[in-house]
Amino acid sequence: MQTLNPACPAGTQNRVSIIGAGKVGSTLAHGIISRNLADVVLLDIQDGLPQGIALDLMEARGLEGHDRQIIGTSDYADTANSDVVVITAGRARLPGMSRDDLIETNAKIVIEAAKKAIAHSPNAVLIVVTNPLDVMTHLAWEATGLPARRVVGMAGVLDASRLQVFIAAELGVSARDVQTMVLGNHGNMMVPLPRYCTVGGIPITKLMDDEKIDRLVQRTRQGGTEIVELMKTGGAYYAPAASTCLMVESILLNQFRLVSAAVYLQGEYGIKDVFLGVCCRLSGQGVEQIFELDLTEKEHEALQAAADLVRQNVDRAKLIFPNAAL
Ligand code: 2OP
Repeated sequence: MQTLNPACPAGTQNRVSIIGAGKVGSTLAHGIISRNLADVVLLDIQDGLPQGIALDLMEARGLEGHDRQIIGTSDYADTANSDVVVITAGRARLPGMSRDDLIETNAKIVIEAAKKAIAHSPNAVLIVVTNPLDVMTHLAWEATGLPARRVVGMAGVLDASRLQVFIAAELGVSARDVQTMVLGNHGNMMVPLPRYCTVGGIPITKLMDDEKIDRLVQRTRQGGTEIVELMKTGGAYYAPAASTCLMVESILLNQFRLVSAAVYLQGEYGIKDVFLGVCCRLSGQGVEQIFELDLTEKEHEALQAAADLVRQNVDRAKLIFPNAAL
């Protein structure tokens, strides 16, 4: 692992466009402006919705102590010259559905949103949140033609956060003292890595037995589904928005955060031409570097299997929308 470059002075980048004013998009907008990270353009095809949310958020500025501007719009021209574009548009799962069941519905939405947004912000870093995450990130990359390093999918931060909280609850410690690592796809074939999870620097394998670890890993795999089954009408949005906000902050402020995120692999782990969750460094230029972890044979096989599933689903999406890159 190369030594991390000293973090560059905080960047002056300060404009984020969020495509999709649903629960994830609107919660993310609130997170960004209430942390005084950037001005926000919130876009949705449902005219009136983004404008109402933006006005509501603006009316809290005095209470929340910032002067950030947020506008709501249905016009992509209003998103021009964004430093970061986040795509949250698309349908959420309902009980009994897998994320992959959303391919037919969300592929067209994401391809169109990515093309229109990046046409106005060609220098932006593009973060994809819409599910199925790894597939949608790939389609957005091909649709925009952006350099692969400026396209990243938000999932690993969310999955790692869930495992972090489950470990903290099991051990009765603060989640802030738990470090976790989850690779692979954002779905049942994700690859949590207990060997790389620590509590205050202590490997969790020293603090709990394999049965407990396996139970927490399985709950992490099912984390999104658990919430969909409880809520019935949609999925999680607070933790996904908070995860995306962390990535936005690292990009805007050049923080070089080390995160798990869906990144285009070009030979890392012996895997090529697919977006998959790996450990990477995130800065104002997007994905600065991928850190290849030493994996056991079983872990590596699981990662390869996840990559194969994502490839199959990308091919499935392209059968439906063959001209994604045009
Ligand atoms: C989740 O895991 C929505 O995919 C997201 O909750």
